[in-house]
Amino acid sequence: MDKITEVQNQALEAIAAAADLDALQQARIRYLGKKGDIQALMSEMKSLPKEEKPAFGQKVNVCKQVVSEALEKRQAELQEEALAARLVEEKIDITLPGTKHTLGTMHPLFMIQQEIEDLFIGMGYKVAEGPEVELDHYNFELANIPKDHPARDMQDTFYVDPNTLLRTHTTAMQMRELEKAEGKTPIKLICPGKVYRRDDDDATHSHQFMQCEGLVVGEHITLADLKGTLEHMANTMFGNGRQIRFRPSYFPFTEPSVEVDVSCPFCNGKGCSVCKGSGWIEILGAGMVHPHVLEMNGFDSEKCTGFAFGIGLERIAMLKYGIDDIRNFYINDVRFLKNFDRFD
Ligand code: PHE
Repeated sequence: MDKITEVQNQALEAIAAAADLDALQQARIRYLGKKGDIQALMSEMKSLPKEEKPAFGQKVNVCKQVVSEALEKRQAELQEEALAARLVEEKIDITLPGTKHTLGTMHPLFMIQQEIEDLFIGMGYKVAEGPEVELDHYNFELANIPKDHPARDMQDTFYVDPNTLLRTHTTAMQMRELEKAEGKTPIKLICPGKVYRRDDDDATHSHQFMQCEGLVVGEHITLADLKGTLEHMANTMFGNGRQIRFRPSYFPFTEPSVEVDVSCPFCNGKGCSVCKGSGWIEILGAGMVHPHVLEMNGFDSEKCTGFAFGIGLERIAMLKYGIDDIRNFYINDVRFLKNFDRFD
């Protein structure tokens, strides 16, 4: 009987001393396992005299129960401790600043290009694209600027070889599209893209810039159609109430040719620093497609006419966003580009 008490005390001590769940499991095996100490006491019962057996058996059972309960209790405690320790260890501080994923921003020139595309697609124009490395043939010859024509000096050119160059204007695309149409009308398209000229870069000049050409060819197309179209464009891009005016100009591929001004959107035509007091701002060059250009491209200039215009995208973006140096568009300073965050 004393042995039972001894085993029970030992077991309870071992359980109380178990510092973790592994140690507790060892104690469980040692005392409650099939080959454990309490089971050994049970086996000893066989050798006792008959009358002692019940009291002995009862005491072993009580011992087994006491030890089991102590084990359960200690196990619950240790599990709780283990969980508490894990919670401390794996604690996430949700107040720490997160990792920010930076997003790119839309380039201002691309925004203008999209605005123009949306506007003209809405009027049934298609958008054409073409090569920046262009043949002299499309950039100059078909545009009515033969070799040694003085107009070649208007556009100082980067040549790759005597017949290949970096296109100096999107008018090259106009010629490609005219040729492709094989004399069939109507044609209604715009072509946005980069162009290149040998210029010394400064606040208003860049050796690379963007244009968007517009071209319409069909029967009975007149200068009035050109004016109405550009007026609509000016009102969409610079706000309602804009007026436009035509000033005579010269381009070899249009006749007549015009420079187009828009009434200043900043002072409503009264005169301010942006329009230099004139009330007007020049925004593009345009004209009626030269009959010779139509003929060279396989059109009957007696039957069809057309208008064309070429917009400088930097100029529009500079006016719209108040940018005073064209180089900003190309030096890729993030501090500048961030101003055009689409989520602002
Ligand atoms: N190609 C001309 C330029 O680059 C612009 C223009 C296009 C003028 C179409 C008239 C018609 O200056």
